[in-house]
Amino acid sequence: MGSSARIKRLSADLQPVMEGERPAFVKKTLLRAVRGCWDFEALMANEVMWLKRLAEFRWVPRIVAVEELSILMTYCGEKACLANLPDDWREQAERIVAELASVPCSHNDIKAEELLVLDGRLLLIDYQHATRTREEHLILRRAGLSGCRNRVPDEQAIIGTLARIGGQG
Ligand SMILES: Nc1ncnc2c1ncn2[C@@H]1O[C@H](COP(=O)(O)OP(=O)(O)OP(=O)(O)O)[C@@H](O)[C@H]1O
Ligand SMILES: [Mg+2]
Repeated sequence: MGSSARIKRLSADLQPVMEGERPAFVKKTLLRAVRGCWDFEALMANEVMWLKRLAEFRWVPRIVAVEELSILMTYCGEKACLANLPDDWREQAERIVAELASVPCSHNDIKAEELLVLDGRLLLIDYQHATRTREEHLILRRAGLSGCRNRVPDEQAIIGTLARIGGQG
């Protein structure tokens, strides 16, 4: 398949698995692996690696099972919005930023869709584009090896996105 058939998204089948009334898990499935463009299987393997490395933090989804083309992980809530944004969002966000830096981990693709809220807790998902440092990510991007669009570093992306959601941006 040539570059004209570029697919920019890692398509995900994210039907929640219910436990009684509540969603408990989601399964993120790689639906289309396209050669000659981004290596989607490598992106999925990268996400699994970072979910494991970050497993000690409560704002990270837990892996339940990894299959060849899918990751079953714990449900992390709804996209952050004005209605569910916790009052202490800035404190929670600063903790996420500090703990990411402590690993170190650069997420590289933080946007509103990646910031979820569950029972007043902020969670950060989607680690397929994560690297150890922002510099590593910029090298990959300059080499045409990263498809993610986020132009700003994690701290700015998290705080800026949540401030906009909260009407303070
Ligand atoms: N653990 C989770 N709990 C709850 N919802 C989730 C979870 N993981 C993903 N989602 C939902 O599914 C959407 C897509 O997931 P994710 O961003 O991981 O997939 P993606 O294919 O990488 O998407 P994109 O390329 O658009 O970033 C998220 O924006 C979120 O709404
Ligand atoms: Mg995403």
